[in-house]
Amino acid sequence: MNKRDLISTAVEIREKAYVPYSKFPVGAALKTTSGKIYTGCNIENAAYPVSCCAERVAIFKAISDGERDFSEMAVAADTKRPVPPCGSCRQVMSEFFHSDTAIHLTNLDNDVKTITMEELLPFSFQQDDLTGL
Ligand code: THU
Repeated sequence: MNKRDLISTAVEIREKAYVPYSKFPVGAALKTTSGKIYTGCNIENAAYPVSCCAERVAIFKAISDGERDFSEMAVAADTKRPVPPCGSCRQVMSEFFHSDTAIHLTNLDNDVKTITMEELLPFSFQQDDLTGL
C-alpha cells in the first residue's frame, strides 16, 4: 500500500471511532515492513483518562498480533493543520518505530506533513536508558 492509500485508510477508519465525549474522531493506519496494515481509531471512556488514542490502538493491535517491525504510519483528524500526535503516543511510537520511520500526519483538507520518528520525538527515553539501574 502506498502513502496515499495509507492516508485514505486512516481517514476512513475515523468512522469507527468511539468518541461520545470529545466528538473528535481520529484514525490511524500502520504498515508493517512485510506490508500488513493495522488500523486504529480513538476509543473513549466515561472515565476520561482511560481513553486511548487512535495511534496506540493501531500499534497495540499490531503488537498483540506478533508484529514488531513497522515502516510507516498515517494519522488523520479534522484539524486545521496536520494532526499532531499526543505525547503519550509519541513515546509509544518511539518504543517500536525506527528513528527514520515515516509518519504521515494529515487533516481532511489533505494537508500532509511527513516527519520521521526522530523528528516527532527527539531525545526520547529508550530501553537503553534503563541500563544504569
Ligand atoms: N486523539 C487521538 O486519538 N490521537 C491524536 O493524535 C490526538 C488526540 C484523541 C484522544 C481523544 O479521544 C480525542 O482525540 C480528543 O483529545
